[in-house]
Amino acid sequence: MCSRTLFLCRHYSSQAKSVAYYTTPIYYVNANPHIGHLYSSLIADASQRWHNVANKGCIIKFSTGTDEHGSKIQQAAETNNSSPPDYCSNISKRYKALAERFNIACTDFIRTTEETHKNTVQNFWNVLNKNGHIYSSTYSGWYCVSDESFLTDSQLKETVGADGRKIMVSSESGHPVEWTEEPNYMFKLHSFREELIYWLTRDEKIIRPKKFQKILLDLICNGDLPDVSISRPSSRVHWGIRVPGDDAQTVYVWLDALVNYLTVAGYSLDPSEFQKVWPPDVQVIGKDILKFHGVYWPAFLMAANLEPPRSILCHSHWTVDGEKMSKSKNNVVCPFDRSGVYTSDGLRYFLLREGVAHSDGNYSDTKVIRILNSELADTLGNLLSRCCGAALNPDQTVPRMEVEALESVAALDVTKRLIESVEKLPDVCRGHYEDFNFYRVADSIISTLHSANLFFETLKPWELKKNPQTSKELDVVLHLTMETLRVAAILLQPIIPNISGDLLDKINVEKHQRHFEDVKDFSWTNREFKERKLGLEKIVLFKRILSDGDKRAKANK
Ligand code: MSP
Repeated sequence: MCSRTLFLCRHYSSQAKSVAYYTTPIYYVNANPHIGHLYSSLIADASQRWHNVANKGCIIKFSTGTDEHGSKIQQAAETNNSSPPDYCSNISKRYKALAERFNIACTDFIRTTEETHKNTVQNFWNVLNKNGHIYSSTYSGWYCVSDESFLTDSQLKETVGADGRKIMVSSESGHPVEWTEEPNYMFKLHSFREELIYWLTRDEKIIRPKKFQKILLDLICNGDLPDVSISRPSSRVHWGIRVPGDDAQTVYVWLDALVNYLTVAGYSLDPSEFQKVWPPDVQVIGKDILKFHGVYWPAFLMAANLEPPRSILCHSHWTVDGEKMSKSKNNVVCPFDRSGVYTSDGLRYFLLREGVAHSDGNYSDTKVIRILNSELADTLGNLLSRCCGAALNPDQTVPRMEVEALESVAALDVTKRLIESVEKLPDVCRGHYEDFNFYRVADSIISTLHSANLFFETLKPWELKKNPQTSKELDVVLHLTMETLRVAAILLQPIIPNISGDLLDKINVEKHQRHFEDVKDFSWTNREFKERKLGLEKIVLFKRILSDGDKRAKANK
């Protein structure tokens, strides 16, 4: 290896870590949570849940939290006649409640106002400084308060404000900017250009989907990668962490926020524990914060001689009727409200099933109702109910199968198609999970469940029930259908943990047998046709949702 390549690779270890580390962005506390915020958390949660299903016994660290400093929060607190600490605590609680409501199984919920975080930011600053990557300067430029950043000329456009006067705004976000001149500290971003390109291209999977890798490369290769301002005068932004040794400056909120991932990993605590966790395996972000995570963040880490993240998963946004969600348009979709109607798993399913990472998704309640009714209520839920009904299944079991009866049913085309589909399903889903294509996971599972429904209807178990001579075939139909449901539920756990858990409890699958290595242990191949008792509880996996039209029709009857 030549010395140049050696220099570029110096931050990359090939060592396996004992802890897998997943993160969500930390949420600004200047607004209530909406489905967009929930979406970032869901992608991270489903990914780490899949990691757990696929790696029995693994240890996972999964962090989320709130981003609480900076002028945006300072202003929001003022507008709400509240002190910044009270204001932050109040909104941070709502993000915590969101995580709880939607089973975001985080191990850590960080708030950037915590003392440990403050110490980590200051320690990290000292390391960057000691390594010679910080200098003081006078900065002047167009500053956007809402986006918390200085913008270059190419990122601006002129427009007309509400009062009819010409104003400058960010061409990306549309938020107003103001001309600002102030002393502050700068980070030598330009010196990381080559290493950033190396990091971004050394493995295709660092930034996914690929279109976002291209955006970053364009930004780094075509722009001039100017140094970045990493502090603000305390006189303007007092609500922040003080720069070590200079009380007149607070740390730039994006540096402060990004360091949350180090705080959670224990950077300032125990170095041996930190080593087990670092670097992050999967960092989930939305497309609006790509530059911060795909340029600034790895450069900060390189400057501190730390390994940058192993992968960043960037997702697109949710719109409503094709428009950006905003308070002023009154079209913000509240996840708490919606989960009251659709349940938390219902909304999880819709967002993960309909959202694709590479382009924006459009939210509509009509679409939610259609998908949940057809896929969760009819295709999945109804199939279980049919197998558990007292008329067909009076003993309430996943019945034993007899080899002969299995062989005669398995000779039918409809059975062959079902078995083939179930046998392929685990590997198909694994591939989609590894590519973070949750919509494809759901699609494949629903398609197998359609085969199971067709099998059930073709074999007409209610007819088999009538004739004592076909009772063995009836057992096969019930067994194969419930075996399909077992496979589907294990694979659906990362997307809809409650519903899958209820289903697996009902068909009596032990908790330690719900991993990927168990899923392929199909009963027809291991020939262990043991009977299992069904769980006692009567369950409806997913209750059909009545649309407004359905409700009106019901009322008119
Ligand atoms: N505080 C920063 C992140 C710092 S991470 C070190 C921030 N916060 S945010 O609350 O504005 O956004 C958090 C996440 O929500 C981002 O991933 C963002 O993309 C996501 N979403 C916000 N609106 C969204 C949609 N309309 N749709 C999908 N996700 C969106 O940025």
